[in-house]
Amino acid sequence: MQRWLSRGLAAIEDWQDSFGPFDRDGSLRVSDEQFADAFDDFTRRLGDNYPFFHPSYAGQMLKPPHPAAVVGYLTAMLINPNNHALDGGPATAKMEKEVVAQLARMFGLATHLGHLTTSGTIANLEALYVARELHPGRGVAYSTEAHYTHGRMCAVLGVDAVPVPADRAGRLDLGALDDLLAGGRIGTVVATAGTTGLGAVDPVHEVLAIARGHGVRVHVDAAYGGFFTLLAGQPGTAGLDAAPWRAIAECDSVVVDPHKHGLQPYGCGAVLFRDPATGRLYQHDSPYTYFTSDELHLGEISLECSRAGAAAAALWLTFRLLPPTPGGLGQVLAACRQAALDWSALIESSGRLILYQPPELDIVCYFPAAGPRSLSAIDRASARMLAAGMADPEHPVFLSTLQVAAGEFARRHAGIAADRDRARILRSVLMKPESQGYVAELHARVEQLARTTGPGG
Ligand SMILES: Cc1ncc(COP(=O)(O)O)c(C=O)c1O
Repeated sequence: MQRWLSRGLAAIEDWQDSFGPFDRDGSLRVSDEQFADAFDDFTRRLGDNYPFFHPSYAGQMLKPPHPAAVVGYLTAMLINPNNHALDGGPATAKMEKEVVAQLARMFGLATHLGHLTTSGTIANLEALYVARELHPGRGVAYSTEAHYTHGRMCAVLGVDAVPVPADRAGRLDLGALDDLLAGGRIGTVVATAGTTGLGAVDPVHEVLAIARGHGVRVHVDAAYGGFFTLLAGQPGTAGLDAAPWRAIAECDSVVVDPHKHGLQPYGCGAVLFRDPATGRLYQHDSPYTYFTSDELHLGEISLECSRAGAAAAALWLTFRLLPPTPGGLGQVLAACRQAALDWSALIESSGRLILYQPPELDIVCYFPAAGPRSLSAIDRASARMLAAGMADPEHPVFLSTLQVAAGEFARRHAGIAADRDRARILRSVLMKPESQGYVAELHARVEQLARTTGPGG
């Protein structure tokens, strides 16, 4: 990475030199001593972090970007283009259109209009904004397992938000959806391809069939799960049932976050619409920008104004090396899913841990087996394991917790006293391909935590 960072710096300096010399202003100057002092402080403070890069970090959806993304981002950031308009970043705006087209191909969209965003939240906000514009006065339905952003953004947009129950696998309940849509108050359904908590994949194909039967639009929130479409219909144990993923091509919009499974640093979401005419809903004029060309400026089809051109550059360089194809980025996703399958098999044969439900993607949820069979005991034991794992000075292990409702727990595991309305269980997102080679060690560590923090431990 150091070599390519130096090459990037040199390339930008060469380019800058082509514009002729000028005096740098003294007000920006800092001495090496000042810098060293601040930088020491800075790097020391960054040590206050969890080791997201290491497979012993098996907690939330976090990992460092691929070196290509880092080099691409930092090199482009030396110019600091703004992808709002072609006037702000011609090169990176073109890169953005190219990577968005690659994402569209990945989902099989025959036509598309789309752009990058700073996050999955903003990308979903845009999709819900379009939902409101196309069906004014009608609500948005999503499963109770959908990301909280849908309820929040509907409130921001003044749209009626209607949660639909999930089935016992954590997927949107089709019967309940059909009943709701028959009432006519819903204009758009959100299907989640990879829920944040459990990694469940809503049956997008069946949601689509029901929605179309009622004249309702479908938006797919694949912020977390979207890149798993590269495993759809693939051979081997990591391959996924193709039907929900193939159906995305027929839905009205889809969101995917390259800053989750696309190896990018934060600041990179994406929203794509199947109908390019959706662009008319964004129509506005800007007296300050859009002046160098009549070509489409990205700001003309997005709600955000300034946006890092460096984010597009990073994704572009990453996709040159690891394209969003089954043989490219798909291999990374396959290793993550295989890690989740391998670990869940170990958990299923463990006397110390219980699998909450089989993983569909790369999220594994589980809880300790020992102790009294009640939700409060499971909640306390999960919290103890989380804390003890992080506090271990020799071999720390980093997990996360997921709160599940008592009713949901009971649907999956009978005979556990529901002495509270929800409980924390443990959740591990195995989103690094390195997790695959680390599963045995991770399992041994987590089993040991269950033993040492459990009753009598
Ligand atoms: C399914 C889903 N939608 C939306 C979001 C929100 O995305 P962001 O955190 O990029 O705003 C997430 C984040 O985890 C997610 O998993």
